[in-house]
Amino acid sequence: MVKAAAFLLVLLLALEAHSLSVKKKCSLVGRWVNDLGSNMTITTVNGNGVFAGSYHTAVTATSKEIKLSPLQGSLQKSPNQKGQPTFGFTVNWSFSDSITVFTGQCFVDENGKEELRTMWLLRSHVDKIKDDWKATRVGINVFTRLQSQE
Ligand code: BTN
Repeated sequence: MVKAAAFLLVLLLALEAHSLSVKKKCSLVGRWVNDLGSNMTITTVNGNGVFAGSYHTAVTATSKEIKLSPLQGSLQKSPNQKGQPTFGFTVNWSFSDSITVFTGQCFVDENGKEELRTMWLLRSHVDKIKDDWKATRVGINVFTRLQSQE
């Protein structure tokens, strides 16, 4: 009887230790907000890591009215990603002549909170090659999952 209880205790402790060591995997699917207040929704990620969604930027480099824009991306599916995958996506702005490419990685902290750390290049259209030098902006954005999604 004592032996059985001791065995059960060891089993429970082993299961607990295992569950603590299994880290939550990052999923890109869902609604995200970044440090500028822009909102992004990723609707689908297929088996090859190809994903799609929509982006509502909070800011613009133009004087145009901001509109919801489509995004298309790709998630690195290598097993070495350890649940914190790298990815890239393109936003083809529906209200301007520009394109933005983002690249980044999804991190999960010890509390299971996900964060997308990204860098971006925003390419604006210029009329002449002489202006090419000033056509690309660069920056970083940090995305967190929208509260209602947690
Ligand atoms: C444009 O101004 O031509 C299109 C909108 C660009 C918005 C940029 S993309 C990088 C940065 N991150 C955002 O969420 N918005 C800005």
